Amino acid sequence: MSTPNALAKTAMETQAVHGGREVLHEQGIHALPIDLSSTYPLHNLDEGGRSLEAMAMGGLPIGSPVYSRLYNPTVARFEEVLALLEGSEEAVAFGSGMAAVTACLMAAKQRGNHIVAVRPIYGGTDHLLASGMLGLDVTWAEADGIQAALRPDTALVIVETPANPTLALLDLEDVVRQAGQVPVLVDNTFATPILQNPIKHGAVLVLHSATKFLGGHGDVLAGVVATNNDWATELRKVRVITGNVLHPLAAYLLHRGMPTLPLRVRAQQEGAKVLAERLAKHPEVAAVHYPGLQGQDPKGLLGRQMQGPGSLMAFELKGGFEAAATVMAEVKLMTPAVSLGSVDTLIQHPAALTHRVVNAEAREHSGVSQSLMRLSVGLENPDDLWADLSQALDKALARCAVGVGDGCCGCGGDGSL
Ligand SMILES: Cc1ncc(COP(=O)(O)O)c(C=O)c1O
Repeated sequence: MSTPNALAKTAMETQAVHGGREVLHEQGIHALPIDLSSTYPLHNLDEGGRSLEAMAMGGLPIGSPVYSRLYNPTVARFEEVLALLEGSEEAVAFGSGMAAVTACLMAAKQRGNHIVAVRPIYGGTDHLLASGMLGLDVTWAEADGIQAALRPDTALVIVETPANPTLALLDLEDVVRQAGQVPVLVDNTFATPILQNPIKHGAVLVLHSATKFLGGHGDVLAGVVATNNDWATELRKVRVITGNVLHPLAAYLLHRGMPTLPLRVRAQQEGAKVLAERLAKHPEVAAVHYPGLQGQDPKGLLGRQMQGPGSLMAFELKGGFEAAATVMAEVKLMTPAVSLGSVDTLIQHPAALTHRVVNAEAREHSGVSQSLMRLSVGLENPDDLWADLSQALDKALARCAVGVGDGCCGCGGDGSL
């Protein structure tokens, strides 16, 4: 597989294996190298200066990369494969997902001072938008109120689908239609490029916390934005100025994991389908939010927009916060921790953790209640995962039955439902 153009016509699985490696094939290198140089020799001062100037304006190097904050070839190769998978002209990688969100907002600010965002959204993004730290004016809109929230100075519409942590789905074509001329940023972290490509549906910016599925092994912190040439130039300019770069070691790990991304995403999804069905039948569980369950995709987005329900779900416990705390304390195989998308299963309580920093009233309004838990299903055997989760849920139920929970699960304190 020699040219990027030839790869663009291949299937996603092929792209995940070969993307970003063409230049290595030309050089006769097989495995991915890591370029850890912080600086590069410049024997020709004039050429070095011109290359630096091009990159300071958000362009690519003309010859030498000059300095690793401006450009790094290991990072650039990871960006190439991600752009291929998302079907975008380019991608720009950052030191974390939040660094990527910040860069998008800083680039957008040059076009206008107003942002429209839909809740729920990752707690950190919500915190950044609500903090006022970047001097942006934010309107929080309902999914069908985006158009009404637009102003002449609206620079960006920000959405997440599936949303963190409730798994609420948005119809991207409707969001883009409502946004009109205003570019739409979609946080695609939950879906991954394997299950959803928002650019096909009209989004201009597609953001990933690469810390999650793209890294997949819980050992990398990174962010990346897939977009067109103009936005990529603006984002690189912000990256050069602010120094929010991705370290080449992290880029290497991300790129190394790309060939298995389609397999991981699909295998984790199979496990999640099993757990969602079983969770829905447990007496401690009041509701399961998972796009793959019957009746949970009323707009018919599965197949049309998303190629599968994914491996994340949220569920509500009858015993509320106390029951969730018991589950966090009692799970043994799954890890009670924030983050998601790893090969191992993680469970957490968004209202107390990832979304703690969100305005409490807005949090409740968007469905992030004290009873809600979020589960990210890994690659373990689903029977083993269920054995672990169900014993923790049984303990939450029993805790209530002996009166510790004051009838919190709705059983009246005697365990009968
Ligand atoms: C959907 C989503 N977007 C963005 C982020 C921020 O990414 P990071 O933690 O890599 O900064 C997260 C982190 O959990 C996330 O879940």
